[in-house]
Amino acid sequence: AAIVGLVVLLILSSSLSSQDERRKPPGPTPLPLLGNLLQVDLKRLDSSLCQLSRKYGPVFTVYFGLKKVVVLAGHRTVKQALVNHAEEFGDRDVTPIFYDLHQGHGIIFSNGDTWKEMRRFALSTLRDFGMGKRLSEEKIIEECHYLIEEFERYDGKAFNNTQAIRNAASNVISAIIFGKRFEYKDPVFQAMVKRVHESIHLTGSASILAYNLFPWLGPFIKNRTCMMKNSAKNKEEIKSITAALKETLNLEMCRGFVDAFLIRMQNLEESKIKDSLYHIDNLHYCVMNLFAAGTDTTGNTLQWYLLLMAKYPHFQDQVQEELSRVVGSRQVRVEDRKNLPFTDAVIHESQRLANIVPMALPHKTSRDVTFQGYFIKGGTTVFPLLTSVLYDESEWESPHTFNPSHFLDEAGKFIRRDAFMPFSAGRRVCLGESLARMELFLFFTSLLQRFRFTPPPGVTEDDLDLTPVVGSSLNPSPHELRAVRRQ
Ligand code: HEM
Repeated sequence: AAIVGLVVLLILSSSLSSQDERRKPPGPTPLPLLGNLLQVDLKRLDSSLCQLSRKYGPVFTVYFGLKKVVVLAGHRTVKQALVNHAEEFGDRDVTPIFYDLHQGHGIIFSNGDTWKEMRRFALSTLRDFGMGKRLSEEKIIEECHYLIEEFERYDGKAFNNTQAIRNAASNVISAIIFGKRFEYKDPVFQAMVKRVHESIHLTGSASILAYNLFPWLGPFIKNRTCMMKNSAKNKEEIKSITAALKETLNLEMCRGFVDAFLIRMQNLEESKIKDSLYHIDNLHYCVMNLFAAGTDTTGNTLQWYLLLMAKYPHFQDQVQEELSRVVGSRQVRVEDRKNLPFTDAVIHESQRLANIVPMALPHKTSRDVTFQGYFIKGGTTVFPLLTSVLYDESEWESPHTFNPSHFLDEAGKFIRRDAFMPFSAGRRVCLGESLARMELFLFFTSLLQRFRFTPPPGVTEDDLDLTPVVGSSLNPSPHELRAVRRQ
């Protein structure tokens, strides 16, 4: 009887454990303490995870040390999770470095009520003071003129356009947040933009990854110290800009996001409403979020556009031919877009190939969820692998080459593609998507109307290197281009 009992117990427990195994997303076997760290290439994590998805399927588990991460790969799966299961996959994983920097405040690295209210407020005020189509169009067009002026200063000589482009992108979001732009030479502005870029780059470094896995390493991690200093200095600058705005606040004339926030704070104080989310910390962190998110991403993408145009001059010819034919020399407007299908296709294809935020930002499941037959516990970190969507072989004819036809039908009409997801999707979809799209279109077309972009003398198109510099985003490697004035 004892033997029979033991056998039954063994069978039961093995069937229970295999049932449990079946329910968890598969993945490579983790080593003690290290997890799967030796099986992934930390220098190009997104590509390495795409490789693993070939073996383990579209939903799989990887362990970074003891930290369990569920990876979502491919257009169908990422969309299904972020859109159809938006609630369950819509929390942010606030890693130790993100918590150090934002303390759970603001929009990007918050959850729950803070996130919901700050996101809603930012969206509605940005719509009124910036993204409201006409107003933001005017602000961007004004900035296009400054950028063109800056490029003209080089008089056709090769130069590195990084700083000028970042300044221009940053000025658009600054105009929306603070109600004013900065001179490109303004040292405070230059330093703020530089710090934002440095910190975004360091977020993807191996030492910050190590810190996120083993927070006790904190005091020994130089990159963390640098990020904390950058953040403290930018916060100081933002505090002094917002203090000046507060002094000149006019309830009748709202200049931008900061004014709208200050007015809301004042109204709540007057109504004696306690424990409001509209406090000064949330204001500072929201501004820091919007300033950072609006600077590097758009600037970086625009740099890719120009590099790709210099690399593929026959596509640049076609864009310039279309612009000359449809718009001529007058200022391009947003409404011209529908009449510029080839240009629109080039804009989309460049952004697809550039893939600047390859793994979105880390998400977290808000509760237990069964997804594609797998059980994922609430609180699990989730990486929506945007690379696997933008380069999905079942979606794109030639995922790894620059091919504007991906966005054109046989008649040459522009077609929207569902797998074009550089802004991610669902609850956490990029808050600045419509602003960014407008900026990219107006900056790109205005620059291509004026200039021909070519490699420096002695450098061929083939020599132009498309290998990205990898941080938490993918930037073009440092390079110079000529911006030659068109006749
Ligand atoms: C989040 C891409 C421009 C503000 C994100 C995310 C991506 C992204 C991939 C993460 C989404 C996720 O977690 O699933 C981009 C790209 C841009 C761009 C490719 C330009 C080419 C902007 C601009 C702003 C902005 C101009 C400023 C208004 C934000 C904010 C979030 C975010 C606030 C956090 C949203 C949240 O957590 O709820 N963006 N972005 N982005 N982006 Fe952008």
